[in-house]
Amino acid sequence: MKQASELLRDLEALEREARAAIADATTTDALEGIRIRLLGRKEGRLTAVLRRLGEIAVEERPALGAAANRVKSALTELLGARAAELGAGAARVPGVDLTLPGRDQWAGARHPVTLVIDEICRVFQSLGFTRVRGPEAETDWYNFISLNTPLDHPAADLHDTFYVSDGILLRSHTSPVQIRTMQAFQPPIRVVVPGLVYRRDPFDASHAPAFEQIEGLAVDQGVSFVDLKATLAEFARRLFGRRATVRFRPSFFPFTEPSAEVDVSCILCGGSGCSTCKGTGWLEIMGAGMVHPAVFENVGYDAERYTGFAFGMGPARVAMVRYGIADIRMLYEADVRFLEQFA
Ligand code: DAH
Repeated sequence: MKQASELLRDLEALEREARAAIADATTTDALEGIRIRLLGRKEGRLTAVLRRLGEIAVEERPALGAAANRVKSALTELLGARAAELGAGAARVPGVDLTLPGRDQWAGARHPVTLVIDEICRVFQSLGFTRVRGPEAETDWYNFISLNTPLDHPAADLHDTFYVSDGILLRSHTSPVQIRTMQAFQPPIRVVVPGLVYRRDPFDASHAPAFEQIEGLAVDQGVSFVDLKATLAEFARRLFGRRATVRFRPSFFPFTEPSAEVDVSCILCGGSGCSTCKGTGWLEIMGAGMVHPAVFENVGYDAERYTGFAFGMGPARVAMVRYGIADIRMLYEADVRFLEQFA
């Protein structure tokens, strides 16, 4: 049977050595090595002493156990204190403040309007439409005249449009890409055209001087208003859900005849009326109509042979409704705290 006094001497020697080693440690790595050699569960020296308690007489165990535990907690505390000292020492390196929080990695994400544009274009792609683009700087012929809009029309006014130079302007809508597409291809044509457009609008809660549009155009023999209605109704169902419906209201655009404003049943209240749809149950999202014969003549299409429909919508509006964004300016201020919600 081991003597309790022998074990007690071992314990005292161990404590003395350990205190010296801890005080001498100059790095946190070295300190961690000491901790493992003392208290490690498998090979720690103090752990070994505690294990040897079983070898001494039963009546001496409590006193020795208490002594071993005192040494263990004293050394644990010393290790902690020395670790804090070494850490604080590192933090005093000139120009380096290790107490500052780390910087978050900003991974980047697609803009909410881009998400909506991609989704809308995907729906139209599933209906047989191809995605195309056109230039943002246009001539007044493409932006107005070819679309049956004479330059003395109010929309062509200097006050409403950004002119770059005589006859060159920033397009005020994506409709000129209808013309460019028809000049480049013969029917049948089915395209959607996302892109930025520019207007001399005030920058307020519901207007921006630059915003996105998506244009659509379908031309073939025998295309009728029924095709327009069916296509847009199916588009609404695929984008907003099976229960979505559309409503056509008579309207006017120079490049379509007849023309309509197209509303979609409110995606928030389903049509019963809420603050988003201002109690009407409907959201205005696009203009549409049958391509005016004068437009076909301007691109050299036979207006007796071909008919077509066109539409133009505002994806920012859709994004605002979908994500509950009250002010359109939030979409264009590039505030990362706002945008990262969509990541
Ligand atoms: N270009 C029109 C605008 O910016 C929107 C539009 C209306 C486009 C009817 C169309 C259409 O293709 O058929 O206000």
